[in-house]
Parts: sequence; structure tokens; C-alpha cells
Amino acid sequence: MPPLWSFLLVLVARPVGGSYFPEVDASTTWQAPLMQPWDPVRAQQTSITVAWTPAWNPYCTLNRYELQARRPAGAPLRFADLESLAFRETDPEDETWPGDQEWTPWMTSYTGVGRVYTLRVQALTPYAAQFRVRSCGAKTKAGDFPQCESCSAWSPIQTTHAVLSGAVDKINFIVRGTGMNAPDYTHIEVNRQVIYRRRDETGLVLAVFRRLDFSLQWLRTYDTHRNRSQALLRADHLRLYNASYFVVVASAIAWEWHAPRSLVQAMEFCGAFHFGQWAHIFAERMHYSSNSSDLQQTATQQEFGHPYAFMGIPGIGSGMGWESLAYNSGHYLAKDLKMQQAIIRGIAYLDYVARLYRLQDVIANKADFYLKSQPPAPETLHNPMPKWKQQKLDFLSIPGMTPAYTPYVGTLRNHITALSEANGTVPPHNYAFVLVTDAKVMKVDPRPASLWMTELERVWEGQSRRYFPNNGTRMLLGTRLVDMSCTDFIFHTHLFASPESCGANYTDCCNRIDVPGLMATQCGIGVSPTLCVNSTVTEIEKTNVTYIENRTHPAKWPYKFWVIDWLS
Ligand SMILES: *[C@@H]1O[C@H](CO)[C@@H](O)[C@H](O)[C@H]1NC(C)=O
Ligand SMILES: *[C@@H]1O[C@H](CO)[C@@H](O)[C@H](O)[C@H]1NC(C)=O
Ligand SMILES: *[C@@H]1O[C@H](CO)[C@@H](O)[C@H](O)[C@H]1NC(C)=O
Ligand SMILES: *[C@@H]1O[C@H](CO)[C@@H](O)[C@H](O)[C@H]1NC(C)=O
Ligand SMILES: *[C@@H]1O[C@H](CO)[C@@H](O)[C@H](O)[C@H]1NC(C)=O
Ligand SMILES: *[C@@H]1O[C@H](CO)[C@@H](O)[C@H](O)[C@H]1NC(C)=O
Ligand SMILES: *[C@@H]1O[C@H](CO)[C@@H](O)[C@H](O)[C@H]1NC(C)=O
Ligand SMILES: *[C@@H]1O[C@H](CO)[C@@H](O)[C@H](O)[C@H]1NC(C)=O
Ligand SMILES: *[C@@H]1O[C@H](CO)[C@@H](O)[C@H](O)[C@H]1NC(C)=O
Repeated sequence: MPPLWSFLLVLVARPVGGSYFPEVDASTTWQAPLMQPWDPVRAQQTSITVAWTPAWNPYCTLNRYELQARRPAGAPLRFADLESLAFRETDPEDETWPGDQEWTPWMTSYTGVGRVYTLRVQALTPYAAQFRVRSCGAKTKAGDFPQCESCSAWSPIQTTHAVLSGAVDKINFIVRGTGMNAPDYTHIEVNRQVIYRRRDETGLVLAVFRRLDFSLQWLRTYDTHRNRSQALLRADHLRLYNASYFVVVASAIAWEWHAPRSLVQAMEFCGAFHFGQWAHIFAERMHYSSNSSDLQQTATQQEFGHPYAFMGIPGIGSGMGWESLAYNSGHYLAKDLKMQQAIIRGIAYLDYVARLYRLQDVIANKADFYLKSQPPAPETLHNPMPKWKQQKLDFLSIPGMTPAYTPYVGTLRNHITALSEANGTVPPHNYAFVLVTDAKVMKVDPRPASLWMTELERVWEGQSRRYFPNNGTRMLLGTRLVDMSCTDFIFHTHLFASPESCGANYTDCCNRIDVPGLMATQCGIGVSPTLCVNSTVTEIEKTNVTYIENRTHPAKWPYKFWVIDWLS
């Protein structure tokens, strides 16, 4: 009971005379006010409301509260720059960050006895404001006891912020990379707006967004598959950006062949990991070392064209970004089978204090082979070969030198040579639909002639004209090989066809690409699955600002896409 007892004594003793008791300093006996817990629902676009608890002093009556506020000084990206670079998304909160010098001086914004205050802020300044409050006693005459003029200590600082509309402070995004055997639109979409959606380019699409306002800063496709200097150029452009940007990469058709070391390092700087492994396997290594095999196209290159998508931040550290990669499997005439694509989905939310977007709930699909080094099991979609045909484990060979599995690429593009061989078959035993025995007895296929069709004829232009082998008489009236469309294209030049090289409507390659009824050239399943007639191009345009391709004078909004308008 001593405190209560002494308090009563003060009240009783007061009329007797102050000098009897030791001097009391009223400022140290103030129970300072505390800011009430704050929540973003107390903020609007142009106002921030704060509240605080009552102050209390046993000797003095309260005269007024003094509320002070301050906002960040300097450029919008200043706070973002002050974030430490390493583990930028995982640093614990530091109360003093970023230091007093980064704020404007304290301004007294309210004096009075109320305990709620609404600070008006300029619109479109959706960033932090700090508050502190103290209580003060009334002015007392000289000689009076106790002296109440002094004020309490400042309350702990409270950080608040004005808000933006809900449509921008949490936004979603999706990135989809496609490959040779999973052809589709390569797609980048942010906040429900399509940034890039095309299926006619080859290589890697690079999109760079500023973390301040999610504005698109750079959008370009680099043909890293066929052109090494473009790959080097891409590495240079990637290096122009720092931790204030998001880097988004999506593959289109194929990208691996000429991805050089410097590009790998630039990607690893942004957080990639598997990218380098692939470049090591595919690019930085001699291909076509066999003299006896198909030197140009199928053997080694059938593994090109993995779907790949990536999202990272320059400087985040290798492996810390979000990377999605999928198998390169392809299935024969797989019309309704949706092959795996590389997909990244996530949410970016605005950190109002640091004034930048952060990523949250990012999901990046990754095939098990890359995620856990676990090859697809036999007799499954990506490795359909029967179990008994798979190579047995060989304990004598060096483990690193035997491939874990062979990607299954069973597309028409890969099988067209086998089909054309099966069409004629081997004389004199089988001329397809006519069997000649060793005793030179000839048997004709007993089925109706309309069913006499090989697989090549089924996917191409129907029955071919056929003759008896012994006397050259016509057996079946069909289309002659010379009358069939795109013969050269289907047998040979489709390997070099790409949407860029085939001209308008692909007529430079063949005059019947992706026409109804002709499976061999159909979009998605034919010998040239990336040539599609019915494709649209969606790509965000540049603004009218002439954009200089150097970073000393970057435009504020070089492309017609941004999420937040900002003033300062
Ligand atoms: C990033 O670069 C911009 C200029 O492009 C610069 O204003 C900013 O301070 C840099 N940020 C960091 C974290 O270095
Ligand atoms: C490769 O890319 C560079 C730079 O974009 C370009 O100048 C060159 O013409 C390209 N080469 C080919 C063969 O397309
Ligand atoms: C492959 O061809 C090169 C050059 O024609 C020759 O030097 C080399 O001996 C050949 N290799 C094999 C295994 O035949
Ligand atoms: C199929 O084989 C027959 C017989 O060899 C030939 O006449 C015909 O042109 C071939 N068809 C195609 C589409 O290659
Ligand atoms: C050609 O040979 C076939 C099979 O022996 C026979 O059916 C056909 O009548 C012959 N054609 C002519 C014109 O002799
Ligand atoms: C391409 O084909 C479409 C539809 O058949 C046609 O409208 C267009 O004029 C063609 N373009 C060229 C350059 O031939
Ligand atoms: C083109 O694509 C659109 C949408 O993908 C589809 O609705 C339309 O039927 C297609 N047109 C043709 C001629 O295939
Ligand atoms: C681009 O800017 C110029 C000059 O500022 C103006 O004359 C022109 O109309 C603008 N073009 C568009 C498409 O906005
Ligand atoms: C960058 O652009 C500015 C503005 O056009 C120009 O003055 C400067 O010389 C350019 N710098 C380089 C390295 O090209």
C-alpha cells in the first residue's frame, strides 16, 4: 500500500505548504500517451487517421496533446534503395530503419485535447507517414507547486501509410513459357492485362518491371537459339537493371542452343538456377560430334525447346528466384493432350513503407526431374517406353555419363521419316497392299480399296497412286506424289521452318500450312507445330516518349503499362 498511502498524504498535506515535501518534477511523472494500434482500414487515399490513449499525471491536469507527423524525404525509390541487398525479402524488421535523416523534420500537426486525428495527405502519395504524440500541462504561475508547464516524453513512433485503391495494392500475375513440343502462346499477364502474347517468335522474352509502380520498363524477344550475338546482347541488357526491378523471362519455341556463359551469369545474378545447367548441357558444348548420324537436325536437337519461365530480382542470389521448367516430351498427333508448359503464378503486394512491390504466394511448376532429380517412371506420359525395353542399370559404367532417361519426343515432326519409309516398304516383299512371296506369288490386300491407306497417307493428302510391281499397271487411282502439296516441305525443309522465316501466311515455306483437313501441316500437331495461321499478336506498345536505349536518361513510363500513378 505505500503508493496509495503517499498519494493520500500529498492530497492531505498540500494546503500545509509545498516546501515541506521534496520538489516534484511534473514532466517525469507524466504517464505519456501511446499511439493506438493502427490498421490500414484507418487510411484512405488522401487521409490517415490515428488515435492515442489518454495521458495521466498525478499532480497536473492535462492541458493539450501535441501530435507530430513526418513523411519520407526524397525520391520515391529512396527507401527501396536503403533495403539491404542480401536476403532482401527475408530481413527482420528493424525499428530504426531507415534512419531519421531519410524523413522530413517533425511537424506539429495537431494541438488540443482530442485523442483522434486525421491527417490530410496529397492524393497519389501512397507511402509512409510517422506519428508521435505527447501530453503537456497548463502554464502555472511562478512559485506555484507543482510546476505543470512541462510535457511528457514522446510516445513511441508509429508508422502508418495512405492507401491506394484495392485494385493496385495487391495484383496478380502469370507467366507462361512454351516449347517446341508444347506449342502455344507465350504469355505474360500482370494485373489482368496482357503484356505479351505471341506464338510467332523464337527465343526468350525478357520483360522488366519497376518494383515502384510495376511499370513495364523493357520488353523484347531475343533469339538465343539461333543467334549468339542476340544472346550476348540480352545478357548486356539484363545487367542494366538493379534490385529495384523485377525480371521476367519466358521461353518461346526454343532457346537453348546459343545461351552463352555470360547470359547464364546474368540470369544467375537475378536468381536463376536451372538455366545454367541447361546452357551447360546444350549450348556450351560441341554438338554434332558423330560423323555417322544425322548431323543437322534430329539426333541431338530433339531435346531443345524446353518450356521455361522465370521471375527474379537482380542481386537476389542464385537459386532464390522463381523458376519453372517442364519436360520436353511430345506426343504423336496429340491433338487434345495438353503438353506441359512452364507456368509461374503469384501475387505482388505493395509495401507502402519501402515503396516497392514484393512477391507473395508465387507458384512455379517444376518437372520432378529438375526438382528432385527423379526421372519420369517408365510407361508414363513423359517416358512411355515399356519397362522391359528400358536400359537396365549398368553398375560398370560411370554414373555421370549415362543419361538418366531419354526424353520422349514422339511428335509427327520426329516420326515423319519413319512414316515415309513405311509408306513404300521394302520391295519385292511388300509394296503396301500387294504382297509378293518368295515364290513370286502376288496377293492383293482383300480389303476394299478405300481402306488401302498407309499412315503417311492418312496424315497427308489421302491415298497415293499405286502400281503393280510386276507389269507397272495402275492398281489404285490416288494422288501422284508430284501432285501432292508441299512435298519438299514435309520431307525436308520443315526442319528449318519457323514463323519468322516463312514469310507472310507462311507461303515462302509451303502454300498449304495449317489448312483444314491437312494434318501434316496442322498447327500444334503437324511437322511444323509452331506455324499457325490463326494466331494473334498482343504486345504492349511503347509510349510516345522516345525511349533512349541507355540508362542515364530512362523514361518514367516507357511502355503503356503501369499499375500506380505517382507524383514525386
Ligand atoms: C537502381 O538504379 C536506379 C537507376 O536506374 C537508381 O535510381 C536506383 O538508386 C538503383 N537502386 C539500387 C537499389 O541500387
Ligand atoms: C543476330 O543478332 C544480331 C543482333 O541483333 C543481328 O545484328 C544479326 O543480324 C543477327 N544475325 C542473324 C543471322 O540473324
Ligand atoms: C569424323 O570426321 C572428321 C573429319 O572429317 C575426322 O577427322 C574424324 O576422324 C572422324 N571421326 C570418326 C569417328 O570417324
Ligand atoms: C507412298 O508409296 C508409294 C509407293 O512407293 C508412292 O508411289 C507414293 O508416292 C508414296 N506416297 C507418299 C505420300 O510418299
Ligand atoms: C499386272 O499384274 C497383275 C498381278 O499379276 C494383274 O492382276 C494385272 O492384270 C496385270 N495387268 C496387266 C495390264 O496385265
Ligand atoms: C493471309 O491470309 C489471310 C486469310 O487467308 C488473307 O486475308 C491475307 O490477305 C493474307 N496475307 C497475305 C500477306 O497474303
Ligand atoms: C481462331 O481462334 C479463335 C480463338 O482461339 C477461335 O475462336 C476461332 O474459331 C479460330 N478460327 C479459325 C478459323 O480457326
Ligand atoms: C506524340 O508526341 C508528339 C509530340 O509530342 C505529338 O505531336 C503526337 O501527336 C504524339 N503521338 C501520339 C500517337 O500520341
Ligand atoms: C544517353 O542518352 C542521352 C540523351 O539522349 C545522351 O545525351 C547520352 O549521350 C547517351 N549516352 C550514351 C552512353 O549513349
